[in-house]
Amino acid sequence: MILKNLSLRNFRSFESRDFILSPGLTVVAGHNSRGKTNLLEAVFFTLNGHGFREDREEELIKFDTEGTSVRGVFGINAKEDTFEIDIRYKNGRTVKTYFVNRTSKRRDFYTKDLVKAVLFTPDQINIIKGSPSLRRDYFNKLLSVLDIDYKKKLTNYEMALRRRNKVLEKHSNIEALKEELKFWNEYLIKESRYLVDKRREYIEYLNSNKKLDSKEFSIEYVKNEFTQKRLDEVFEKERIIRKTMIGPQKDDFQISVSNGVLKKNVHHYASRSEERLAVFWLKLNEVKFFERTGVKPILLLDDIFSELDLDNKMIVLGLVENYQTVATTTEDILLKEIKVEKTIINL
Ligand SMILES: Nc1ncnc2c1ncn2[C@@H]1O[C@H](COP(=O)(O)OP(=O)(O)OP(=O)(O)O)[C@@H](O)[C@H]1O
Ligand SMILES: [Mg+2]
Repeated sequence: MILKNLSLRNFRSFESRDFILSPGLTVVAGHNSRGKTNLLEAVFFTLNGHGFREDREEELIKFDTEGTSVRGVFGINAKEDTFEIDIRYKNGRTVKTYFVNRTSKRRDFYTKDLVKAVLFTPDQINIIKGSPSLRRDYFNKLLSVLDIDYKKKLTNYEMALRRRNKVLEKHSNIEALKEELKFWNEYLIKESRYLVDKRREYIEYLNSNKKLDSKEFSIEYVKNEFTQKRLDEVFEKERIIRKTMIGPQKDDFQISVSNGVLKKNVHHYASRSEERLAVFWLKLNEVKFFERTGVKPILLLDDIFSELDLDNKMIVLGLVENYQTVATTTEDILLKEIKVEKTIINL
């Protein structure tokens, strides 16, 4: 499945632009602030129904306009399908509509058969360098794309957790508190089990694909389970601090790298290039995982070449040859360096 054309109307800085993409590599070149990342985000948006930088949906709409629409034409064998998303912003609310071949569809239906995107950005280094919450975010987003039920259960879990915390804040009477917590505990135990199982399965998948270059990566799932036994253990403490203390909202994931002799924790001991390699390990496995569903993903590379050392550059260039790719760059040098056949969009 190849994205052939993309039409943007009032998307971010673009008023009205149409782009033709290569089935191989498209390089989006231009000086700073010309809209390179906006264009990449438009591709991501067409595939996912959201961008990768906004806090609020309306940020995707061009300033001083009332809505945006982005349309992608996809080629599947000899057939063409049009996927379009439209956002209107009125009275402080956004309304989003999905269309497949100009007929409006539910979001699940829209994304079901669509090719997946794997995004590479320089700030993904924070998955390694940052707090556990950034790693949880990474896996939550990925698993939500892979599995609609994961997304639903995560939303349910987070909503129920807020309700449980409200109950803890409200009561000082032990018996009344226990009684009201009962419902939320049972509900959260059930929903959390699904989240933990899916996280565990994906971690097992990563650990069955350890090799990258001359290195071997592995990942440990540091679980924080939500079980009745653990709830009983922390009940007194929770009653005092009036907040839920356990559960997968506190899970962590720890990555290690080994060169065959020494194994070390990447978050604490890796060099900058080893940190980047660890991100690639996660990302390359994302690519392989999507590919197992039978459809090759589209790679979106946002300004990642300038900071890479030669080894990492070679890994990325190796990938680019095998997948439809859109890559942004400010550097002319890069255009010469990439020998792969390419279409260039100058912004
Ligand atoms: N909703 C919006 N409406 C209008 N302009 C916007 C909107 N959102 C972002 N912009 C502007 O679009 C411009 C281009 O942003 P973009 O991030 O795509 O630049 P870029 O070419 O990737 O730059 P860099 O090389 O610095 O990464 C910026 O000046 C930004 O402020
Ligand atoms: Mg940019």
